[in-house]
Amino acid sequence: DIPLHRGLDRILIDEETLQARVRELGREISEYYGDRSPLLVGVLTGAFVFMADLARAMAMPLRVEFMAVSSYGQATQTSGVVRILKDLDRPIEGEHVLLVEDIIDSGLTLEYLIDVLQRRNPASLRLVALLRKNKPRSVPARADWVGFEIPDEFVVGYGLDVAGRYRNLPFVAVVKPDAVLGK
Ligand code: PRP
Ligand code: MN
Ligand code: MG
Repeated sequence: DIPLHRGLDRILIDEETLQARVRELGREISEYYGDRSPLLVGVLTGAFVFMADLARAMAMPLRVEFMAVSSYGQATQTSGVVRILKDLDRPIEGEHVLLVEDIIDSGLTLEYLIDVLQRRNPASLRLVALLRKNKPRSVPARADWVGFEIPDEFVVGYGLDVAGRYRNLPFVAVVKPDAVLGK
């Protein structure tokens, strides 16, 4: 057993539960695409772990690319402004794009990315998020597949960070309030 890191309050989703759900999502999404080969677009940095596991849980030969955006940076509250730090390398016109996110919190990041990608005329655009916070939002949080609905608490692990740390945890955990404040 990995001892719980200092700074963590409790494990919210353990490794086994995460892995089982990701495999299930992989099967469901594979069925949906059938013979079509999607282009998985991962949103760096948070989605890198989920993307790697999801891609391996999908049946068909597919391609992967990454975009890097940031709205939180070192902060724990969204700045409300999403910036593209790295764009896709190629046009996506005519592609079946599956956007892969780790979490929908305010919904602003996904809202912004949907808008940007839809303008590029993909054949289809679908969204999968591992986690979605259960909270009232100013923007609709539309996703075609969601791994887990979670309470509105600050979570880390499996790609998610606080100030860049904890992304490597194989589970999702709630951080102690003082860790969120950077003490
Ligand atoms: C986090 C997370 C999502 C986004 C969700 O990214 O990975 O991309 O915030 O929040 P929202 O729904 O309120 O927009 P962050 O900006 O922290 O960058 P990171 O992925 O590099 O950690
Ligand atoms: Mn992110
Ligand atoms: Mg972050």
